[in-house]
Amino acid sequence: MIISPSLLAADSAFYGDQIRTIQEAGAQFLHIDVMDGHFVPNLSFGPTIISKLRRASDIIFDVHLMIEHPEVYAQRFIEAGADYLTIHAETINDPSSIIKVCANNNVKFGLAVKPQTDFSSILDYFEFIDLLLIMGIEPGGEGKSMEVETPKKIAMAKELRKKISTNFLISVDGGVNNKTGKLCFDAGADVLVAGSYIFNSNDPKLAVKGLLNL
Ligand code: DX5
Ligand code: ZN
Repeated sequence: MIISPSLLAADSAFYGDQIRTIQEAGAQFLHIDVMDGHFVPNLSFGPTIISKLRRASDIIFDVHLMIEHPEVYAQRFIEAGADYLTIHAETINDPSSIIKVCANNNVKFGLAVKPQTDFSSILDYFEFIDLLLIMGIEPGGEGKSMEVETPKKIAMAKELRKKISTNFLISVDGGVNNKTGKLCFDAGADVLVAGSYIFNSNDPKLAVKGLLNL
């Protein structure tokens, strides 16, 4: 199980310390949410902040682009230090050009789907992705409850992955806590993204360790 704490829920005055804390607890990824005020109503990090964080930590940057026209910005997030670059299936008809840019730069490529988006429109790309991000909540939010259908969707993704004999990570984002995380783990999730459950807890280290040992 890979744990990817979501920086959005961390305290911006102490990013460096908080990243070190979750890394010491065993988190392998850091989830970084990029929001543009169009695809989602909120705004968050841009490439400048990410490149500064890159200097502070060598943890794997799991960058989740919740932006329109990801093809225009992909290169900038790669240069900023993304290790995984995930774009939303709803924002693009054909991700081939971004897949190429990622491959040329040795960056892993991911596709994300909103809770109401099924896999039919992205099946053709399953053999080219490194990560499938299944949203448990509407993108843009945090601290919300996970949609109950999410574990079923994870199990479906796992089946499809087997059928196509390909090998991407299945990640789940939104509403992950020790209970929903266990359901997702049992359904076949490889990566748990968790924001408020980790950073709003009294002991983020313990929260990460709890998720690692589900
Ligand atoms: C949702 C973001 C998430 C968010 C999750 O818009 O993509 O990564 O930080 O927050 P929690 O874990 O609190 O649902
Ligand atoms: Zn996210």
